[in-house]
Amino acid sequence: MTAPIVHFNGKLLPLDQVHISPLDRGFIFGDGVYEVIPVYDGVPLHAREHFERLQRSMDEIRLANPHGVESWIELTYALLAHHPGNQSVYIQVTRGAPDKRDHVIPAKLEPTVFMMCYPLASPSKDAVENGVKCVTARDFRWEKCNIKSTSLLGNVLARQISADAGATETILLRDGFVTEASASNVFVVKDGVVAAAPRDNLILLGITYELLVKLAAEGAFKLEVRPIPESELRSADEVWLSSSTKEVLAVTTIDGKPVGTGKPGPLFRRMHALYQDYKAKLRRASAVAA
Ligand code: PDD
Repeated sequence: MTAPIVHFNGKLLPLDQVHISPLDRGFIFGDGVYEVIPVYDGVPLHAREHFERLQRSMDEIRLANPHGVESWIELTYALLAHHPGNQSVYIQVTRGAPDKRDHVIPAKLEPTVFMMCYPLASPSKDAVENGVKCVTARDFRWEKCNIKSTSLLGNVLARQISADAGATETILLRDGFVTEASASNVFVVKDGVVAAAPRDNLILLGITYELLVKLAAEGAFKLEVRPIPESELRSADEVWLSSSTKEVLAVTTIDGKPVGTGKPGPLFRRMHALYQDYKAKLRRASAVAA
């Protein structure tokens, strides 16, 4: 099998021709940031918003961005020319490879840029129609969860708790409040009102989170952005997960107990339909523009 084409430091080349130094700070320290962009029929969803968030992550870690948003979007399309259909584009920028290991950030270093594509694993029909299982755990990660950092050990360990339990996600609780899940944001519905955790340093502010907030406003949902106590999660009528790859999914059991009726709820169904309409409209608009 031929190696897939990837982007590496300004060039498109087969994956097996990419060579990265073991001294790269991404490898040594997890010193880097990343993005994941869903692509439907060759059209990236919210590429601009993803690259703006990449810029915010880079500002937070004091890493100079080698590209502006427009240039990132061009690089994305150049890579997508080799990968038709529905894809996930993964973009990673690390601080680069100095000649020695030292925690201190080197003054002058070329960042390492890597982009790859893999087929987008959209949620199964079963997951959409019947919902998914989640478990909960203490949010033992650091206090800069707003940075989309490649240092994902906390998220990896959190995700494994649900994998071991045969569940889709681990919903995280910090000091008695819901933050997010290991690789998704969380929404909680009670008495017809949707709640989302605050846009602060304790969550990764999802591009999908912002899309759901927008769709909620357009669809006349009541939505509040505020701290969500654990008790509200446990007594919710509906709980949803959102991410670029999961889109929006209903959580139907938490720690083995049913959420609401134990089936995806009416607000979820409305939001899921709005999301699918939104995607379809975007595809039609880009087909007209092309
Ligand atoms: N994860 N919170 C965390 C911790 C995440 O890792 C993600 C996304 C989200 C949702 O963000 P968005 O809606 O922008 O995808 C929230 C990606 C998909 C990943 O790491 O693969």
